[in-house]
This record gives sequence, C-alpha cells and structure tokens, in this order.
Amino acid sequence: MRVYKLKQDLQAHLENVLKKQNTIGLVPTMGALHQGHLSLVNTALIDNEVVVVSIFVNPTQFNNQNDLRNYPRTLDSDLKLLATLKNSKVIVYAPEASDVYQGKIISQSFGFDGLEHEMEGEFREGHFNGVATVVKNLFEIVKPHKAYFGEKDFQQLQIVRKLVEISGFNITIIGCPILRESDGLAMSSRNGRLTQEHRKASPFIYEMLKAAKVKFGTKSANEVSEWVKNEFANHKLLALEYFTIANETTLKPIKRKNKQNKYRAFIAVFAGDVRLIDNIELN
Ligand code: PAJ
Repeated sequence: MRVYKLKQDLQAHLENVLKKQNTIGLVPTMGALHQGHLSLVNTALIDNEVVVVSIFVNPTQFNNQNDLRNYPRTLDSDLKLLATLKNSKVIVYAPEASDVYQGKIISQSFGFDGLEHEMEGEFREGHFNGVATVVKNLFEIVKPHKAYFGEKDFQQLQIVRKLVEISGFNITIIGCPILRESDGLAMSSRNGRLTQEHRKASPFIYEMLKAAKVKFGTKSANEVSEWVKNEFANHKLLALEYFTIANETTLKPIKRKNKQNKYRAFIAVFAGDVRLIDNIELN
C-alpha cells in the first residue's frame, strides 16, 4: 500500500491514475480507524478504481485544545488495518499540517445557509469552518470524482454537500450509514477514551434515539424532547448536551410535523469528559 506524506508525490501518482481514465474516490479521516471508517473505504472501493484515504488530525476544527491533545494518533495500526483490505486500490495520504495548509494553519470563514449555526455549530465554536477548510483543501489536492462521508456526523455531511455546491466542485458526495458496536453504541475514535463504567453506560444513547423514533410516531416533537431530557436528567453517568429533532435538509429544529419533510433526531452527550454524538432518521 502506498503511503504519501507530501501532496506533490501523491499528485504525481494520481496523474497516472487519471491518464488511465480511472476514477478516484476520497475518504477523509482523522485516523484511529475503526470498522465505521472501513465501511466508507469499502463503499468507495466498489465505486472507484483508486481510493485515497486521508489520515490527518485537523487542528483547526478542534474548539477544545484538550480534545485535540487527547485525540488518538495511531498511524501504524491504521495502516495495518487498511492493509487488511483485500484489494490494493487504497492509497494513504498522511500529511503534516504544513502540507495541507498553505501558509498559516487557520480556518477560512464560510457561510452555509445557516446549517453551520445549528447543533454542533452552537456548541463547537468555529468547528465547521475548520472542517470545511480542511475538506476544501483535501478536495483541491486529491481532486476526487467522489468523496465519502458518514451519517454519524450528519451535520458535517450536509455542510460538505453545501460546500461542494457553493464552491462549484465537480465531486459527488456519498453519505454512508452509521456503523455501531453490537450493543448499539455508534463506532467512534473517541470510544477508546471512555472509562469502563462510561463505556458500559453509553449504549443508553442509542436506546434513547430508538425510543424517541417510536414516540415520534404518536407524540409531538416537544413531548419527545422533554421525555428524552427527563430520562437523561435521571442518569448518573451520562450528561445530555443537546437533543434536537430537526429537518434533515435545513437542520432547523422542527416546529410542527409536516409529512412532506424528513426529520432526524440529533444528540450530543458527555460520558465523563468524552463527548459522543449520534443521530437517527425518524420518518
Ligand atoms: P473522522 O471522525 O475520523 O471521521 C471520518 C469519516 O468517518 C467521517 O465521514 C465520519 O462521519 C465517518 N464515520 C465515523 N464514525 C462512523 C461510524 N460509526 N459509521 C459510519 N461512518 C463513520 O469526520 C472527520 O473525521 C473529520 O471531520 C474530517 C471529515 C476527516 C475532516 O477533518
């Protein structure tokens, strides 16, 4: 498996790929890879002749310096995991920040029709400017035909779609379903930082999402939200940051149910000092 640290070497290789009229798929990641990431890579491998997996812990998207410091960096085991994939169409781009950012390592400021102000945007100042900046740079470096993002970070997925629209990239964005542990906890690079006690408690998050989905069939969004908030208020180990039922396209909180709209429930929870997010389709 080829591993590139420098964009100029990666680009020289990709030029040959394009000469053969092959398509390039991109899976951007921050490493500490798990089966959720691999499911994106596997989907990309079905669609494309070459798949670039970028592994880069992007400093500009961390609003919390502790989170950035503690973010797992496990390049050796990430490469081993990718090497287990049967075919060798995977190329890794694992750069230093200076290779991804021209000059200063700072975010560009974007407007995404308000998508960036909801939920994660409200609680993680500057986060989506950092995500969009690095994704834009990666798109410009790799020039993929298709790029793959998980519904685990549904708001990010919608913002990347908007980024493509406003920046005029000719890239198809593919959203991929959430992969879960057998007890329902959404796979995440942060799960490894949970204490045993918090790890045991965390499947409660998906339990609540599933229960909210059932209740949403017969109750108002407000009643569902109040019920979830109350369940967490009684929980000893998990602290709810937000639970929001929102329109899937605008990400605006629901006002009144309208059968024409698609809704999703979004949640962020602190399990000790580890922040976990999840979401579920409601209708
Ligand atoms: P990271 O958290 O490493 O996630 C990389 C991709 O994997 C994202 O598209 C994310 O939604 C997806 N993913 C993570 N856990 C998943 C799961 N359990 N099931 C399905 N997909 C999952 O998201 C980022 O990195 C960064 O913000 C990035 C886009 C790379 C920009 O720095």
